[in-house]
Amino acid sequence: MSKVFIITGTRKGIGKGLAEYYLNKGNIVVGCSRGKSSIEHKSYRHFCLNVSDEKAVVDMVRKTKKEFKRIDVLLNNAGIASMNHILTTPLKTAKNIFNTNFFGSFLFIREIAKVMMKQKQGRIVNFATVATPLRLEGEAIYAASKAAIVNLTEIAARELAGFNITVNAVGPTPVPTDLIKNVPKEKMQALLNRQAIKRFGEFRDVVNVIDFFIDERSDFITGQVIYLGGVNG
Ligand SMILES: NC(=O)c1ccc[n+]([C@@H]2O[C@H](COP(=O)([O-])OP(=O)(O)OC[C@H]3O[C@@H](n4cnc5c(N)ncnc54)[C@H](OP(=O)(O)O)[C@@H]3O)[C@@H](O)[C@H]2O)c1
Repeated sequence: MSKVFIITGTRKGIGKGLAEYYLNKGNIVVGCSRGKSSIEHKSYRHFCLNVSDEKAVVDMVRKTKKEFKRIDVLLNNAGIASMNHILTTPLKTAKNIFNTNFFGSFLFIREIAKVMMKQKQGRIVNFATVATPLRLEGEAIYAASKAAIVNLTEIAARELAGFNITVNAVGPTPVPTDLIKNVPKEKMQALLNRQAIKRFGEFRDVVNVIDFFIDERSDFITGQVIYLGGVNG
């Protein structure tokens, strides 16, 4: 049956892949990014916004509910990273990362959970990273913003469980996208070597976990973080 998805960060990378994947399965996808849409599909709607802009997020959720009457799935994918030693990280960069990764996810969870509560049904998947459990040097702020997502996921799962809303997170290993294109080769290889399975993640690895979390049979699975590549949380 066709479902209504909200996916953040759909202009490129994993988010674009997710939007196309769920559109091709006959679903409705409402996406967003700061830049303009790169997806043309009759069942796709795009909002140009910054996920940390409260007013814009409220408006997007309200318009989605108005047009499609329900929201079944939220994939909180939009994210940014910046490889930087803590000594040389400007406060502005740190705030930017938290605004997008943490506050953006929080706003979408809060607004969409209000819709899902009334439906007594919903699935939320957030984006974590292996950089958090690996305590990755050079990624302190990024990893910390995602550590906050993990805690948010675990507690939101408890707060929303009574409404039949599950909240989980996927923690990818490096997946070749623009997000990691500036990481030096030797640093990337050293990171892959710390995984149990020493290869880059692929889009299919990420979507496999999401498909599992949003499956109707997964209604007893909430507050979980699945890290890829054999990294333990
Ligand atoms: N790729 C990896 O190695 C990796 C590993 C672990 C976790 N992850 C996580 O996976 C998610 C997707 O990453 P990716 O690799 O696909 O990144 P990406 O290729 O850089 O794409 C990021 C997407 O998010 C959008 N975006 C960024 N900031 C935004 C904002 N403030 N408001 C609205 N949209 C925004 C971008 O569009 P605009 O620029 O137009 O806004 C773009 O569509 C992120 O949460 C990331 O932390 C990725």
